[in-house]
Amino acid sequence: MSKVYRAILVGTGGIADAHVRAAEATKGRVVITAAVDIDATRVRTFSDKYKIAGAHTDYATALAAEKPDLVFIAAPPSLHLTRLDEYRRHGSRRLGAL
Ligand SMILES: NC(=O)c1ccc[n+]([C@@H]2O[C@H](COP(=O)([O-])OP(=O)(O)OC[C@H]3O[C@@H](n4cnc5c(N)ncnc54)[C@H](O)[C@@H]3O)[C@@H](O)[C@H]2O)c1
Repeated sequence: MSKVYRAILVGTGGIADAHVRAAEATKGRVVITAAVDIDATRVRTFSDKYKIAGAHTDYATALAAEKPDLVFIAAPPSLHLTRLDEYRRHGSRRLGAL
């Protein structure tokens, strides 16, 4: 049986829906276990809309709690390198998307 990759999605603004669709297109191989956004209302609404189990307002907390295989980054560009560095220190092996 193929491995199921656990993913988190960071940033739940305009482009985030496209990342959900991309995960859905894998037909179960990639499952988004949590969304992350500094806007608590937005991330809760987003997770509810797509039936994503987790909703976090802090990326480091999400990494520790979810232990993802993949991270979809849909936050502003100024945060991308910081997010990547934290992800590598966390020990995850793959970067999902920028
Ligand atoms: N919109 C597009 O068509 C498009 C296309 C290609 C790439 N992108 C990339 O995706 C990024 C996001 O685009 P968007 O249109 O969704 O922007 P957006 O402004 O609609 O959403 C960005 C989200 O990131 C959240 N955010 C900000 N700082 C955060 C942090 N530290 N941790 C977690 N979440 C944080 C914001 O609260 C917001 O909900 C763009 O900056 C760009 O790099 C967007």
